Amino acid sequence: MNGLNVERLSSGYAGAVVVREVSLALQPGEILAVLGKNGMGKSTLLKAMMGFLPKMTGAVTIGGQEATGLPPHRVARLGVGYVAQEKALFQDLTVEENLRLAVRGPDFDAALAEVETSFPFLLQRLKQRAGTLSGGEQKMLLMARSLAVGAKFLLIDEITEGLQPSVIDRLAGVIRDARARHGTTMLLVEQHLPFALAVADCWAVLDRGEIAESGATREPDAAARVLRHLSV
Ligand SMILES: Nc1ncnc2c1ncn2[C@@H]1O[C@H](COP(=O)(O)OP(=O)(O)OP(=O)(O)O)[C@@H](O)[C@H]1O
Ligand SMILES: [Mg+2]
Repeated sequence: MNGLNVERLSSGYAGAVVVREVSLALQPGEILAVLGKNGMGKSTLLKAMMGFLPKMTGAVTIGGQEATGLPPHRVARLGVGYVAQEKALFQDLTVEENLRLAVRGPDFDAALAEVETSFPFLLQRLKQRAGTLSGGEQKMLLMARSLAVGAKFLLIDEITEGLQPSVIDRLAGVIRDARARHGTTMLLVEQHLPFALAVADCWAVLDRGEIAESGATREPDAAARVLRHLSV
């Protein structure tokens, strides 16, 4: 199976277990939305999968390859792009310089083409300092860059955070279109429920580091089931 598999993964920080026995299975090209209230371990789950945290127990398999315990650059080499919640671009360099640092030679044209297709407004911003883009815009640039260098898996942490409703409405279509063009398997951490249900095939709710419930987004009661976990 060449999708993305997480098997009873537990991880956390300096001895504090945050993510507990999380299991997930994504088919190739599938989009999963992971939802949950603040502090429930969503970002920690992505960091653990990317190899930023000491693995405690469990296994991660990506594209049929063992990713458990690998450092982040080796996980990336399996074709994984990570769009972190915190700002990950060089804030004082321009948008173009940020792209050129990560993408060389002919890939740079591919990166520009992907930016033009997915997020055309960024083409007008190439000479602008990355730090002057909003957090959401920076994540869009990182997503386009990952796709341009051939990422087959994307882990995206709250791309809608701080974005205007009209931008969020368009973003769901852009992400589904990117998946259709590249066949990308995506794990989206989200707090925006309508966006998550519009873009993903399936959903899972994290509650205090554990998967509390999961299902398919096409089920008519999906929103109600997720909301039960998000309301206090
Ligand atoms: N570097 C760290 N060191 C110690 N504890 C941390 C660290 N980062 C996060 N935590 C703790 O881990 C728990 C989960 O945090 P995490 O950032 O994964 O939550 P989250 O679901 O992504 O929240 P949000 O929706 O606010 O982004 C929290 O209790 C948090 O305080
Ligand atoms: Mg988070």
